[in-house]
Amino acid sequence: MNIWQRAAPWWRTKPINLDDHHHLHRVLSAFDLTFLGMGAIIGAGIFVITGTAAAIAGPGVALSFVLAGLACFFSALVYAELTAMIPSSGSAYTYTYMAIGEIMAWIIGWALVLEYGISVAVVAIGWSGYLGRLVSSIGLALPHWLHGGQVNVLAGLSVLAVSMILSRGVHETRRANNLIVWLKLAVILLFLLLAMPHVKLELWQPFLPHGFPGVTAGAASVFFAYIGFDAVATAAEETRNPGRDLPRGILFSLLLCTGIYIIVSLTLTGIVPFHMLNVPDPVSFGLSYLGMRAGAAIVATGALFGLTSVMMVMMYGQSRIFFAMARDGLLPGFFARIHPHFRVPSQATLATGFVIALVATFFPIDLVHKLVNVGTLSAFALVSVAVIVLRARRPELDRPFRVPAMPYVPILAILMCLWLIIRLGWTTIAVFLAWMAAGFLIYVFYARHHSVLARNASSPTPATVDSDA
Ligand code: ALA
Repeated sequence: MNIWQRAAPWWRTKPINLDDHHHLHRVLSAFDLTFLGMGAIIGAGIFVITGTAAAIAGPGVALSFVLAGLACFFSALVYAELTAMIPSSGSAYTYTYMAIGEIMAWIIGWALVLEYGISVAVVAIGWSGYLGRLVSSIGLALPHWLHGGQVNVLAGLSVLAVSMILSRGVHETRRANNLIVWLKLAVILLFLLLAMPHVKLELWQPFLPHGFPGVTAGAASVFFAYIGFDAVATAAEETRNPGRDLPRGILFSLLLCTGIYIIVSLTLTGIVPFHMLNVPDPVSFGLSYLGMRAGAAIVATGALFGLTSVMMVMMYGQSRIFFAMARDGLLPGFFARIHPHFRVPSQATLATGFVIALVATFFPIDLVHKLVNVGTLSAFALVSVAVIVLRARRPELDRPFRVPAMPYVPILAILMCLWLIIRLGWTTIAVFLAWMAAGFLIYVFYARHHSVLARNASSPTPATVDSDA
Protein backbone atom coordinates (compact mmCIF):
# COMPACT_ATOMS: atom_id res chain seq x y z
CA MET A 1 0.00 0.00 0.00
CA ASN A 2 1.38 3.44 -0.81
CA ILE A 3 1.19 6.37 1.58
CA TRP A 4 -1.96 7.86 -0.03
CA GLN A 5 -3.88 4.60 0.28
CA ARG A 6 -2.76 4.29 3.87
CA ALA A 7 -3.91 7.83 4.65
CA ALA A 8 -7.30 7.47 2.95
CA PRO A 9 -9.19 6.45 6.14
CA TRP A 10 -7.94 9.64 7.83
CA TRP A 11 -10.36 11.55 5.62
CA ARG A 12 -13.44 9.52 6.56
CA THR A 13 -16.37 11.80 7.41
CA LYS A 14 -19.14 11.55 9.95
CA PRO A 15 -22.65 11.47 8.48
CA ILE A 16 -24.64 14.68 8.87
CA ASN A 17 -27.56 13.68 11.05
CA LEU A 18 -29.95 16.57 11.16
CA ASP A 19 -32.74 14.79 13.01
CA ASP A 20 -30.70 14.01 16.08
CA HIS A 21 -31.64 16.88 18.28
CA HIS A 22 -35.38 17.40 18.18
CA HIS A 23 -35.82 16.10 21.74
CA LEU A 24 -33.97 18.97 23.44
CA HIS A 25 -35.74 21.87 25.11
CA ARG A 26 -35.66 24.77 22.71
CA VAL A 27 -35.84 27.75 25.03
CA LEU A 28 -33.16 30.23 23.96
CA SER A 29 -33.99 33.34 21.93
CA ALA A 30 -31.70 35.62 19.90
CA PHE A 31 -31.59 37.93 22.94
CA ASP A 32 -30.45 35.08 25.24
CA LEU A 33 -27.84 34.01 22.70
CA THR A 34 -26.47 37.55 22.44
CA PHE A 35 -26.12 37.55 26.21
CA LEU A 36 -24.55 34.11 26.19
CA GLY A 37 -22.03 35.41 23.65
CA MET A 38 -21.22 38.52 25.67
CA GLY A 39 -20.90 36.35 28.80
CA ALA A 40 -18.13 34.40 27.08
CA ILE A 41 -16.56 37.28 25.17
CA ILE A 42 -16.07 40.15 27.64
CA GLY A 43 -13.24 39.14 29.95
CA ALA A 44 -9.47 39.27 30.23
CA GLY A 45 -9.20 40.65 26.69
CA ILE A 46 -10.67 44.03 27.56
CA PHE A 47 -9.95 44.01 31.30
CA VAL A 48 -6.27 42.96 31.01
CA ILE A 49 -4.79 42.55 27.53
CA THR A 50 -5.88 46.02 26.34
CA GLY A 51 -3.15 47.37 28.63
CA THR A 52 -0.30 45.33 27.14
CA ALA A 53 -1.58 45.96 23.62
CA ALA A 54 -1.87 49.71 24.27
CA ALA A 55 1.75 49.69 25.37
CA ILE A 56 2.63 48.40 21.85
CA ALA A 57 0.04 50.12 19.67
CA GLY A 58 -0.46 53.33 21.66
CA PRO A 59 -3.91 54.97 21.46
CA GLY A 60 -4.13 53.27 18.05
CA VAL A 61 -5.05 50.12 19.99
CA ALA A 62 -8.61 51.15 19.11
CA LEU A 63 -7.69 50.37 15.48
CA SER A 64 -6.24 47.04 16.63
CA PHE A 65 -9.70 46.23 17.99
CA VAL A 66 -11.24 47.16 14.63
CA LEU A 67 -8.85 44.88 12.70
CA ALA A 68 -9.23 41.91 15.06
CA GLY A 69 -13.01 42.49 15.09
CA LEU A 70 -13.07 42.38 11.29
CA ALA A 71 -11.27 39.01 11.20
CA CYS A 72 -13.82 37.74 13.73
CA PHE A 73 -16.73 39.20 11.77
CA PHE A 74 -15.82 37.22 8.64
CA SER A 75 -15.27 34.09 10.73
CA ALA A 76 -18.55 34.71 12.55
CA LEU A 77 -20.46 34.73 9.25
CA VAL A 78 -18.93 31.34 8.51
CA TYR A 79 -19.86 30.02 11.94
CA ALA A 80 -23.37 31.36 11.45
CA GLU A 81 -23.90 29.34 8.26
CA LEU A 82 -22.58 26.14 9.81
CA THR A 83 -24.37 26.41 13.15
CA ALA A 84 -27.68 27.25 11.51
CA MET A 85 -27.27 24.29 9.17
CA ILE A 86 -25.90 21.75 11.65
CA PRO A 87 -27.22 22.77 15.08
CA SER A 88 -24.98 20.46 17.06
CA SER A 89 -23.13 21.27 20.27
CA GLY A 90 -19.77 19.89 19.07
CA SER A 91 -19.24 23.17 17.15
CA ALA A 92 -16.17 23.53 14.91
CA TYR A 93 -14.91 20.04 15.63
CA THR A 94 -18.18 18.43 14.53
CA TYR A 95 -18.59 20.54 11.36
CA THR A 96 -15.13 19.61 10.20
CA TYR A 97 -15.70 15.93 10.93
CA MET A 98 -18.77 16.09 8.68
CA ALA A 99 -17.30 18.33 5.99
CA ILE A 100 -13.66 17.45 5.54
CA GLY A 101 -12.70 14.35 7.44
CA GLU A 102 -11.43 12.84 10.66
CA ILE A 103 -7.83 14.04 10.57
CA MET A 104 -8.92 17.68 10.12
CA ALA A 105 -11.53 17.30 12.85
CA TRP A 106 -8.82 15.96 15.14
CA ILE A 107 -6.54 18.86 14.29
CA ILE A 108 -9.31 21.37 15.02
CA GLY A 109 -10.25 19.60 18.26
CA TRP A 110 -6.60 19.68 19.30
CA ALA A 111 -6.33 23.40 18.43
CA LEU A 112 -9.56 24.08 20.33
CA VAL A 113 -7.89 22.80 23.50
CA LEU A 114 -5.75 25.90 23.25
CA GLU A 115 -8.80 28.10 22.66
CA TYR A 116 -11.06 26.78 25.38
CA GLY A 117 -8.71 25.09 27.87
CA ILE A 118 -5.74 27.42 27.90
CA SER A 119 -7.84 30.59 27.72
CA VAL A 120 -9.08 29.65 31.19
CA ALA A 121 -5.47 29.99 32.40
CA VAL A 122 -5.20 33.46 30.82
CA VAL A 123 -8.42 34.66 32.43
CA ALA A 124 -7.31 33.19 35.77
CA ILE A 125 -4.07 35.17 35.63
CA GLY A 126 -6.13 38.30 34.93
CA TRP A 127 -8.46 37.41 37.79
CA SER A 128 -5.57 37.21 40.26
CA GLY A 129 -4.30 40.61 39.08
CA TYR A 130 -7.65 42.25 39.82
CA LEU A 131 -7.93 40.50 43.17
CA GLY A 132 -4.46 41.75 44.10
CA ARG A 133 -5.50 45.33 43.29
CA LEU A 134 -8.76 45.01 45.21
CA VAL A 135 -7.02 43.68 48.32
CA SER A 136 -4.41 46.42 48.21
CA SER A 137 -7.14 49.06 47.82
CA ILE A 138 -8.38 48.16 51.30
CA GLY A 139 -4.88 48.58 52.70
CA LEU A 140 -3.77 44.94 52.72
CA ALA A 141 -1.05 43.47 50.53
CA LEU A 142 -0.90 39.97 49.10
CA PRO A 143 2.53 38.36 48.91
CA HIS A 144 3.89 38.63 45.39
CA TRP A 145 4.23 34.88 44.86
CA LEU A 146 0.52 34.51 45.49
CA HIS A 147 -0.57 36.62 42.54
CA GLY A 148 2.03 37.17 39.95
CA GLY A 149 5.72 36.85 40.59
CA GLN A 150 7.51 33.89 39.04
CA VAL A 151 4.57 31.80 40.13
CA ASN A 152 0.92 32.77 40.43
CA VAL A 153 -0.64 30.54 43.06
CA LEU A 154 -3.96 32.43 43.17
CA ALA A 155 -4.50 31.96 39.44
CA GLY A 156 -3.94 28.21 39.80
CA LEU A 157 -6.29 27.99 42.78
CA SER A 158 -9.04 29.87 40.95
CA VAL A 159 -8.88 27.35 38.08
CA LEU A 160 -9.12 24.47 40.53
CA ALA A 161 -12.13 26.08 42.21
CA VAL A 162 -13.92 26.54 38.87
CA SER A 163 -13.23 22.95 37.82
CA MET A 164 -14.53 21.67 41.16
CA ILE A 165 -17.77 23.60 40.74
CA LEU A 166 -18.21 22.34 37.17
CA SER A 167 -17.38 18.75 38.13
CA ARG A 168 -20.43 18.78 40.40
CA GLY A 169 -22.70 19.62 37.50
CA VAL A 170 -23.19 23.26 38.36
CA HIS A 171 -22.85 25.38 35.27
CA GLU A 172 -24.24 28.76 34.58
CA THR A 173 -27.95 28.97 34.21
CA ARG A 174 -29.40 31.39 31.75
CA ARG A 175 -30.55 33.75 34.48
CA ALA A 176 -27.21 33.80 36.32
CA ASN A 177 -25.40 34.40 33.04
CA ASN A 178 -27.68 37.29 32.09
CA LEU A 179 -27.14 38.81 35.53
CA ILE A 180 -23.36 38.63 35.24
CA VAL A 181 -23.43 40.15 31.76
CA TRP A 182 -25.50 43.09 33.10
CA LEU A 183 -22.94 43.44 35.90
CA LYS A 184 -20.03 43.46 33.44
CA LEU A 185 -21.78 46.05 31.29
CA ALA A 186 -22.60 48.12 34.38
CA VAL A 187 -18.98 48.32 35.55
CA ILE A 188 -17.81 49.16 32.04
CA LEU A 189 -20.42 51.92 31.90
CA LEU A 190 -19.31 53.15 35.32
CA PHE A 191 -15.72 53.23 34.12
CA LEU A 192 -16.74 55.25 31.06
CA LEU A 193 -18.88 57.69 33.07
CA LEU A 194 -16.09 58.31 35.57
CA ALA A 195 -13.22 58.43 33.09
CA MET A 196 -14.60 60.12 29.97
CA PRO A 197 -14.78 63.65 31.44
CA HIS A 198 -11.03 63.34 32.17
CA VAL A 199 -9.91 62.32 28.69
CA LYS A 200 -7.05 64.57 27.56
CA LEU A 201 -6.82 64.80 23.80
CA GLU A 202 -3.06 65.39 23.99
CA LEU A 203 -2.61 61.85 25.34
CA TRP A 204 -3.81 60.59 21.93
CA GLN A 205 -0.76 62.29 20.36
CA PRO A 206 0.98 60.49 18.79
CA PHE A 207 -1.92 58.21 17.92
CA LEU A 208 0.30 55.55 16.33
CA PRO A 209 3.63 55.74 18.18
CA HIS A 210 4.85 52.51 16.55
CA GLY A 211 3.07 53.00 13.24
CA PHE A 212 0.93 50.42 11.49
CA PRO A 213 3.15 47.49 12.61
CA GLY A 214 2.27 48.43 16.21
CA VAL A 215 -1.44 48.36 15.32
CA THR A 216 -1.24 44.92 13.70
CA ALA A 217 0.84 43.44 16.53
CA GLY A 218 -1.78 44.90 18.89
CA ALA A 219 -4.56 43.33 16.79
CA ALA A 220 -2.94 39.89 17.03
CA SER A 221 -2.91 40.35 20.81
CA VAL A 222 -6.38 41.83 21.42
CA PHE A 223 -7.90 39.15 19.20
CA PHE A 224 -8.16 37.35 22.54
CA ALA A 225 -10.88 39.79 23.58
CA TYR A 226 -13.24 38.39 20.90
CA ILE A 227 -12.74 34.72 21.62
CA GLY A 228 -15.95 33.14 22.81
CA PHE A 229 -18.48 34.31 20.20
CA ASP A 230 -18.26 30.80 18.81
CA ALA A 231 -19.45 29.53 22.21
CA VAL A 232 -22.92 30.66 21.07
CA ALA A 233 -22.76 27.76 18.62
CA THR A 234 -22.58 25.28 21.49
CA ALA A 235 -26.12 26.28 22.49
CA ALA A 236 -27.42 25.32 19.06
CA GLU A 237 -29.46 22.38 20.28
CA GLU A 238 -31.34 24.51 22.77
CA THR A 239 -32.22 27.41 20.47
CA ARG A 240 -35.85 28.09 19.64
CA ASN A 241 -35.30 29.03 16.02
CA PRO A 242 -31.68 28.14 15.21
CA GLY A 243 -31.83 29.15 11.55
CA ARG A 244 -32.72 32.72 12.44
CA ASP A 245 -31.49 33.22 16.00
CA LEU A 246 -28.01 31.64 15.92
CA PRO A 247 -26.63 34.00 13.26
CA ARG A 248 -28.29 36.92 15.06
CA GLY A 249 -26.87 35.92 18.44
CA ILE A 250 -23.36 35.48 17.06
CA LEU A 251 -23.29 38.67 15.02
CA PHE A 252 -25.07 40.92 17.58
CA SER A 253 -22.79 39.90 20.43
CA LEU A 254 -19.73 40.45 18.26
CA LEU A 255 -20.84 43.88 17.04
CA LEU A 256 -21.82 45.10 20.50
CA CYS A 257 -18.49 43.97 21.95
CA THR A 258 -16.54 45.64 19.15
CA GLY A 259 -18.27 48.94 19.93
CA ILE A 260 -17.60 48.60 23.64
CA TYR A 261 -13.93 47.73 23.09
CA ILE A 262 -13.28 50.71 20.84
CA ILE A 263 -14.83 53.17 23.31
CA VAL A 264 -13.08 51.65 26.36
CA SER A 265 -9.66 51.57 24.70
CA LEU A 266 -9.94 55.16 23.48
CA THR A 267 -11.00 56.31 26.95
CA LEU A 268 -8.25 54.37 28.69
CA THR A 269 -5.51 55.76 26.48
CA GLY A 270 -7.06 59.22 26.92
CA ILE A 271 -6.67 59.19 30.71
CA VAL A 272 -3.32 57.38 31.21
CA PRO A 273 -0.14 57.72 29.08
CA PHE A 274 -0.21 54.53 27.02
CA HIS A 275 3.25 53.33 28.07
CA MET A 276 2.05 53.13 31.69
CA LEU A 277 -0.79 50.74 30.86
CA ASN A 278 1.27 47.55 30.91
CA VAL A 279 -0.19 46.47 34.30
CA PRO A 280 -2.28 43.44 35.34
CA ASP A 281 -5.46 45.50 35.85
CA PRO A 282 -5.42 48.45 33.40
CA VAL A 283 -9.11 49.39 33.69
CA SER A 284 -9.17 49.84 37.46
CA PHE A 285 -5.61 51.21 37.33
CA GLY A 286 -6.92 53.96 35.05
CA LEU A 287 -9.39 55.08 37.70
CA SER A 288 -6.80 54.87 40.49
CA TYR A 289 -4.53 57.01 38.31
CA LEU A 290 -7.27 59.65 38.33
CA GLY A 291 -7.43 59.34 42.13
CA MET A 292 -10.81 57.55 42.12
CA ARG A 293 -10.08 54.76 44.53
CA ALA A 294 -13.67 53.78 45.28
CA GLY A 295 -14.49 53.66 41.58
CA ALA A 296 -11.40 51.52 40.96
CA ALA A 297 -12.48 49.09 43.69
CA ILE A 298 -16.03 48.79 42.31
CA VAL A 299 -14.76 48.20 38.78
CA ALA A 300 -12.27 45.61 40.06
CA THR A 301 -15.08 43.77 41.89
CA GLY A 302 -17.29 43.71 38.78
CA ALA A 303 -14.33 42.54 36.70
CA LEU A 304 -13.74 39.68 39.13
CA PHE A 305 -17.31 38.42 38.64
CA GLY A 306 -17.07 38.88 34.89
CA LEU A 307 -13.77 37.02 34.65
CA THR A 308 -15.14 34.17 36.77
CA SER A 309 -18.06 33.73 34.38
CA VAL A 310 -15.72 33.59 31.37
CA MET A 311 -13.67 30.89 33.13
CA MET A 312 -16.82 28.87 33.75
CA VAL A 313 -18.05 29.10 30.15
CA MET A 314 -14.68 28.28 28.60
CA MET A 315 -13.92 25.39 30.96
CA TYR A 316 -17.40 24.03 30.34
CA GLY A 317 -16.81 24.31 26.58
CA GLN A 318 -13.52 22.46 26.95
CA SER A 319 -15.14 19.55 28.76
CA ARG A 320 -17.83 19.36 26.03
CA ILE A 321 -15.20 19.23 23.28
CA PHE A 322 -13.22 16.47 25.01
CA PHE A 323 -16.53 14.70 25.58
CA ALA A 324 -17.47 14.88 21.89
CA MET A 325 -14.01 13.66 20.83
CA ALA A 326 -14.09 10.77 23.31
CA ARG A 327 -17.62 9.82 22.21
CA ASP A 328 -16.25 9.50 18.68
CA GLY A 329 -13.46 7.29 20.03
CA LEU A 330 -10.65 9.76 19.27
CA LEU A 331 -9.81 10.24 22.96
CA PRO A 332 -9.92 7.61 25.74
CA GLY A 333 -13.36 6.78 27.16
CA PHE A 334 -12.29 8.47 30.42
CA PHE A 335 -13.19 11.84 28.88
CA ALA A 336 -16.73 10.71 28.11
CA ARG A 337 -17.34 9.00 31.45
CA ILE A 338 -20.38 10.55 33.11
CA HIS A 339 -20.59 10.80 36.90
CA PRO A 340 -23.58 8.67 37.97
CA HIS A 341 -24.93 11.33 40.32
CA PHE A 342 -23.91 14.69 38.83
CA ARG A 343 -24.51 13.57 35.22
CA VAL A 344 -21.46 15.46 33.87
CA PRO A 345 -17.93 14.26 32.96
CA SER A 346 -16.66 15.01 36.49
CA GLN A 347 -13.31 13.18 36.55
CA ALA A 348 -12.30 14.52 33.16
CA THR A 349 -13.23 18.06 34.24
CA LEU A 350 -11.09 17.77 37.38
CA ALA A 351 -8.12 16.29 35.50
CA THR A 352 -8.32 19.00 32.83
CA GLY A 353 -8.66 21.67 35.53
CA PHE A 354 -5.52 20.39 37.24
CA VAL A 355 -3.42 20.71 34.09
CA ILE A 356 -4.81 24.17 33.29
CA ALA A 357 -4.12 25.24 36.89
CA LEU A 358 -0.45 24.31 36.42
CA VAL A 359 -0.31 26.44 33.27
CA ALA A 360 -1.96 29.38 35.10
CA THR A 361 0.50 29.06 38.00
CA PHE A 362 3.75 28.80 36.10
CA PHE A 363 3.43 30.60 32.77
CA PRO A 364 3.30 34.34 32.01
CA ILE A 365 0.09 35.78 30.55
CA ASP A 366 1.91 37.17 27.55
CA LEU A 367 3.05 33.79 26.23
CA VAL A 368 -0.13 31.96 27.16
CA HIS A 369 -2.63 34.36 25.59
CA LYS A 370 -0.69 34.37 22.31
CA LEU A 371 -0.82 30.59 22.26
CA VAL A 372 -4.58 30.72 22.75
CA ASN A 373 -4.84 33.20 19.88
CA VAL A 374 -2.81 31.11 17.45
CA GLY A 375 -4.89 28.01 18.28
CA THR A 376 -8.16 29.87 17.82
CA LEU A 377 -7.09 31.63 14.62
CA SER A 378 -6.08 28.27 13.12
CA ALA A 379 -9.44 26.79 14.07
CA PHE A 380 -11.28 29.77 12.48
CA ALA A 381 -9.25 29.39 9.28
CA LEU A 382 -10.02 25.66 9.07
CA VAL A 383 -13.73 26.23 9.73
CA SER A 384 -13.71 28.71 6.84
CA VAL A 385 -12.25 25.97 4.64
CA ALA A 386 -15.01 23.65 5.87
CA VAL A 387 -17.77 26.05 4.76
CA ILE A 388 -16.34 26.20 1.23
CA VAL A 389 -15.93 22.41 1.06
CA LEU A 390 -19.47 21.76 2.33
CA ARG A 391 -20.99 24.12 -0.25
CA ALA A 392 -19.25 22.11 -2.96
CA ARG A 393 -19.86 18.65 -1.51
CA ARG A 394 -23.38 19.05 -0.15
CA PRO A 395 -25.02 21.88 -2.11
CA GLU A 396 -28.49 20.42 -1.51
CA LEU A 397 -28.49 20.86 2.30
CA ASP A 398 -30.91 23.39 3.71
CA ARG A 399 -28.98 26.50 4.74
CA PRO A 400 -31.20 28.82 6.81
CA PHE A 401 -28.34 31.34 6.83
CA ARG A 402 -25.93 31.67 3.92
CA VAL A 403 -22.55 33.41 4.02
CA PRO A 404 -22.84 36.35 1.59
CA ALA A 405 -20.39 36.84 -1.28
CA MET A 406 -19.14 33.27 -1.38
CA PRO A 407 -16.32 32.33 -1.54
CA TYR A 408 -14.80 35.74 -0.85
CA VAL A 409 -15.92 36.06 2.79
CA PRO A 410 -14.39 32.74 3.96
CA ILE A 411 -11.27 33.44 1.89
CA LEU A 412 -10.96 36.85 3.56
CA ALA A 413 -11.44 35.16 6.93
CA ILE A 414 -8.64 32.70 6.15
CA LEU A 415 -6.27 35.43 4.95
CA MET A 416 -6.93 37.68 7.96
CA CYS A 417 -6.47 34.78 10.38
CA LEU A 418 -3.17 33.81 8.74
CA TRP A 419 -1.99 37.40 8.80
CA LEU A 420 -2.77 37.75 12.52
CA ILE A 421 -1.03 34.43 13.20
CA ILE A 422 2.14 35.76 11.56
CA ARG A 423 1.92 38.96 13.65
CA LEU A 424 1.96 36.85 16.83
CA GLY A 425 5.65 36.17 16.27
CA TRP A 426 7.72 33.12 15.46
CA THR A 427 8.22 31.97 19.08
CA THR A 428 4.46 31.59 19.52
CA ILE A 429 4.17 29.86 16.15
CA ALA A 430 7.00 27.45 17.06
CA VAL A 431 5.34 26.48 20.36
CA PHE A 432 2.05 26.04 18.52
CA LEU A 433 3.63 23.80 15.88
CA ALA A 434 5.18 21.65 18.62
CA TRP A 435 1.73 21.32 20.21
CA MET A 436 0.17 20.34 16.89
CA ALA A 437 2.97 17.85 16.16
CA ALA A 438 2.29 16.16 19.50
CA GLY A 439 -1.39 16.04 18.56
CA PHE A 440 -0.59 14.51 15.18
CA LEU A 441 1.42 11.73 16.83
CA ILE A 442 -1.48 10.96 19.17
CA TYR A 443 -3.77 10.75 16.16
CA VAL A 444 -1.46 8.38 14.28
CA PHE A 445 -0.70 6.10 17.19
CA TYR A 446 -3.97 6.20 19.11
CA ALA A 447 -6.98 8.06 17.75
CA ARG A 448 -7.25 6.66 14.24
CA HIS A 449 -7.24 3.09 15.56
CA HIS A 450 -9.84 3.77 18.25
CA SER A 451 -12.15 5.94 16.15
CA VAL A 452 -15.74 4.70 16.31
CA LEU A 453 -15.97 5.16 12.52
CA ALA A 454 -12.90 2.95 12.04
CA ARG A 455 -14.28 0.25 14.31
CA ASN A 456 -17.68 0.37 12.62
CA ALA A 457 -16.02 0.01 9.24
CA SER A 458 -14.18 -3.13 10.29
CA SER A 459 -16.90 -4.86 12.35
CA PRO A 460 -20.46 -5.94 11.57
CA THR A 461 -21.81 -4.67 14.93
CA PRO A 462 -21.57 -0.89 15.46
CA ALA A 463 -18.97 0.16 18.06
CA THR A 464 -19.68 2.65 20.81
CA VAL A 465 -17.28 4.40 23.11
CA ASP A 466 -16.49 2.81 26.49
CA SER A 467 -18.27 5.05 28.93
CA ASP A 468 -20.92 4.97 31.58
CA ALA A 469 -22.94 7.42 29.55
N1 ALA B 1 -12.75 36.79 25.13
C1 ALA B 1 -12.54 36.23 26.40
C2 ALA B 1 -11.79 37.15 27.29
O1 ALA B 1 -11.45 38.22 26.86
C3 ALA B 1 -11.89 34.89 26.32
O2 ALA B 1 -11.57 36.82 28.43
